[in-house]
Amino acid sequence: MKSKDRIIIFDTTLRDGEQSPGASLNINEKLEIAAALARLRVDVIEAGFPVSSPEQFESVRLIAGKIKGVVITGLARVMQKDIDQAALALKKAGRPRIHVFVGTSPIHMKYQLRMTENEVFSRAVWAVKYCRRFTDDVEFSPMDATRSKRDFLFRVVEGAIKAGANVVNIPDTVGYTTPDEFAALISDIKANIPGAARAVISVHCHNDLGLAVANSLAAVKAGAGQIECSVNGIGERAGNTSLEEVVMAVKTRKDFFGKTVGVKTEEIYRTSRLVSALTGIPVQPNKAIVGANAFAHESGIHQDGVLKKSSTFEIMSPRTIGLKSGRIVLGKHSGRHAFMKKLRELGCAVRGAEFEKAFTSFKNLADKKKEVFDEDVEALIEEHVKESPQAFRLEYIQVTTGNNTVPTATVRIKTKGATVQEASCGDGPVDAAYKAIDRITKISAGLVDYSLKAVTRGKDALGEVSVKIADRKGRIMSGRGISTDIIEASALAYLNALNRLASRR
Ligand code: KIV
Ligand code: ZN
Repeated sequence: MKSKDRIIIFDTTLRDGEQSPGASLNINEKLEIAAALARLRVDVIEAGFPVSSPEQFESVRLIAGKIKGVVITGLARVMQKDIDQAALALKKAGRPRIHVFVGTSPIHMKYQLRMTENEVFSRAVWAVKYCRRFTDDVEFSPMDATRSKRDFLFRVVEGAIKAGANVVNIPDTVGYTTPDEFAALISDIKANIPGAARAVISVHCHNDLGLAVANSLAAVKAGAGQIECSVNGIGERAGNTSLEEVVMAVKTRKDFFGKTVGVKTEEIYRTSRLVSALTGIPVQPNKAIVGANAFAHESGIHQDGVLKKSSTFEIMSPRTIGLKSGRIVLGKHSGRHAFMKKLRELGCAVRGAEFEKAFTSFKNLADKKKEVFDEDVEALIEEHVKESPQAFRLEYIQVTTGNNTVPTATVRIKTKGATVQEASCGDGPVDAAYKAIDRITKISAGLVDYSLKAVTRGKDALGEVSVKIADRKGRIMSGRGISTDIIEASALAYLNALNRLASRR
């Protein structure tokens, strides 16, 4: 039993969402999304626009037959063939709803429909009555309501309710309205249209001015009982009201809205990923609730606060949307506390002097890279903690190279308390560096294998160099080096192998 304080969540990902430029889903994908929406426990799934194509008809028919426990609706214009097709596609639905719409703004009636106000009114009333032959759950939308003349809009809405519409949806079709204006419209509808109390007043906002969520929430404050929205906010042009944003706003600010939703919020993240993967529409990193950065903390002060008490910088727990925990993003602002937490997460038990050494290396790396990934930290630990003490430690390297220059390297190495510097030319910058190192270490070994790969993502990725060297006795030793600078990584790998060879000897 739904309480009157419960906001009905009407999901249109598969109808308006699928109208997003570039999104096209096949029938199986639509079915998969519908199943995810049912798991998410939305109240209504708008499965498609059956008359618009045989594929749309078939997907609405399949969803209606397979997805239970939720209202399934299909869209129709105020035309008999549309309504017939919608009714047919919804035949197997446990709880079918037909959603009819017609434009009511002067601009739509004059240029698109080429109909007078009276014609639109009669058609709307007729369509709602005709829908009632198939189901008693009928939703009516006066398209472009926010640019419609108030008198006419009210006349049509009243007519639709009298004709039997139990839901009247007020679309801001072109994303034109603003929160105060929209709230006033919804209040006026509720206060002045006879019979309005019998119907659920729904809102359907587009995001052309980035106000879809704000407008929907303002409408809720003014008494709207249903929000039409889509996962990740996908939809025509700039999209629709984002489901995850309105749901989490109503839930997080229950103190302000005084309303509830039936959505199982723990399914939000998973559903968002699915919709993004199947539609091919990526989610921007800073997107509220489901963006990669929505629960990521980068600044040292924020990380420290969140680690001490998450509510210092988190108004919702990442767990409420189905994430295990917020992400600590290591970067140049991160402090010891965050670094230690990351090491623990990665299962690296490093303490005391070893920790300090690893932390210094991390800070040096973070100065060079925007974001330090988990793989970077693991590589650091391996490089700087496990391999110590070293006989030869790289202090400085500089190479000069180019298409018209003889590659030259200057290398400074600390060994047994002393610092030794050498320079050398070579066939390339790596060869020059290796020759300079050979002059310092005086270990005679040949390079038998060299490979370079990127260990992390992005243009500023860490490069990992692996080498194999062989000494005169044929002993093979491998070495690895990691740095954002591939010449430095090459020198580190070579020195790593030489150190291992030296310690073996
Ligand atoms: O934006 C709109 O007006 C619509 C209607 C069909 C409800 O999508
Ligand atoms: Zn729309």
